[in-house]
Amino acid sequence: MYFKLEYRHRIWGSIMLAVIWTVAVGGLFLWNSHLSNTYSNNLARADAIKAFNKDQALRQWAANHGGVYMEALGDIEPNPFMEHIPDRDVMTSSGRLLTLVNPATMVRLIMKEYDKLYGVRGRLVSLEPLNSDNQADEWESNAINAFKAGQIEVGEFTSSDNQDYFRMIRPMKASKVCLKCHAIQGYEVGDVLGGVGIKVPMAPYHEQLNAIFNGNIISHGLTWLLGIFGLTAWHIRGIRNIRKQSSTQSKLATAQISSKIKSDFMSSMSHELRTPLNAIIGFSSTMKAEIFGPVGSDKNREYLDDIHYSGQHLLELINDILDISAIEAGALKLELGNVDLHRVIEDSVRLILPRAHKEEVTITASYALSRPEIQADERRLRQVLLNLLSNAVKFTPAGGEVTIDAHSNADGSMTITITDDGIGMDAEDLTLALSKFGQVDTELHRKTDGTGLGLPLTKDLVELHGGELIICSERDQGTMIKIMLPKF
Ligand code: HEC
Repeated sequence: MYFKLEYRHRIWGSIMLAVIWTVAVGGLFLWNSHLSNTYSNNLARADAIKAFNKDQALRQWAANHGGVYMEALGDIEPNPFMEHIPDRDVMTSSGRLLTLVNPATMVRLIMKEYDKLYGVRGRLVSLEPLNSDNQADEWESNAINAFKAGQIEVGEFTSSDNQDYFRMIRPMKASKVCLKCHAIQGYEVGDVLGGVGIKVPMAPYHEQLNAIFNGNIISHGLTWLLGIFGLTAWHIRGIRNIRKQSSTQSKLATAQISSKIKSDFMSSMSHELRTPLNAIIGFSSTMKAEIFGPVGSDKNREYLDDIHYSGQHLLELINDILDISAIEAGALKLELGNVDLHRVIEDSVRLILPRAHKEEVTITASYALSRPEIQADERRLRQVLLNLLSNAVKFTPAGGEVTIDAHSNADGSMTITITDDGIGMDAEDLTLALSKFGQVDTELHRKTDGTGLGLPLTKDLVELHGGELIICSERDQGTMIKIMLPKF
């Protein structure tokens, strides 16, 4: 359930990110295209103004000179629109005819001559032209009317014959030099005579724009792809993580369930076992005490001792199994309180003493405690100490010595050391001793029966206290066990 939800969130998140990324890159692309378009249009307009200024310079020059005389040859003929100008035609002494060429015609001639080189061509137009070729079309007429109202430029992007153009027009106003020829039309200085139009074909600019556009598509496309690749990789890794997490989670859940089943089983089974065991222990000790009559033969007494001892041993075993499975299921809770470590050690030693006497092993305890109180579960602490002490006594032959030492460390932690000079263990024995249900197999084994659970359980209990249990042992040299309890 959890997995599915997480999974769905991740997928939606990734889709959202992909959409945001696409919109962002797409937006950038559109913005870039828009900028390129504006740039190309501005370029066309700048080129138009350049061509316009060049034409104007030529026209102005010719007008300032009152027109230019050229030999009337070929396409140059006396201009009928200038009949009223004195000395329009001049005959040289050698008999060549020169005629006055007006600025408009001159520029037109130059353009005709250098058409290819000149490129953009300007056109001089008027509402009421001298030459009907110069009649303004509708768009130009509107512009000229606008000029009369004070506007100084009209321009537009347009298309005709499947070709895109930029065209612009600016006013031609009469100055004194113009009136030499145009006064006849009734114009005065400052009047709008007409306009100069420039028409720039957009094809070359569009070509460039297309190149930029294609570059834009490639660069933005690659950027987009790169982002999508990264996003996909990120997404796949995320999904994998979720899968891994969920599988460890479900494994954990299964493990928790199975260990719950196990500990439930253990506790019910131990209850079932304890009841008959208590009967066996209780009745065998009653019989041993001969309360209801004599036992009779020595053989019977021996068997009774065996029954009693075996019952007790079985009970210990069941208790250990129960503790271990509780710890493994995480169900064992410590009942922490202030514990007088000094007293607990003394008590434990006292409990072990009878057995030590029997085995002819001496026990000595020493203390260097700055403060005897520690935070611990007293019952569990006793269990740990009794277990270790009884092990030490158990594995030490007659005449040996067991010592227990407790001291405070500088950092406030405590170390309890239990040393014996018994049979010891080699590395292999040690691994076995610390594994649950494994027991060190020695010649003493039969004499010193045990559950095999004592040491692992002890270690678990120390670790539950946040402490550490360290074993140093060597075959035939003895064993030293250190318990480190942290400062509380
Ligand atoms: C030397 C005489 C002459 C001078 C100077 C002259 N023009 Fe013209 N202009 C003409 C003639 C002739 C035409 C028409 C004939 C043609 O297009 O061949 C003409 C055409 C024009 C036109 C086109 C409309 C039309 O009437 O055909 C405009 C606009 C114009 N001139 C403006 C000017 C301005 C502005 C000046 C002063 C800077 C000027 N001209 C100076 C003789 C002159």
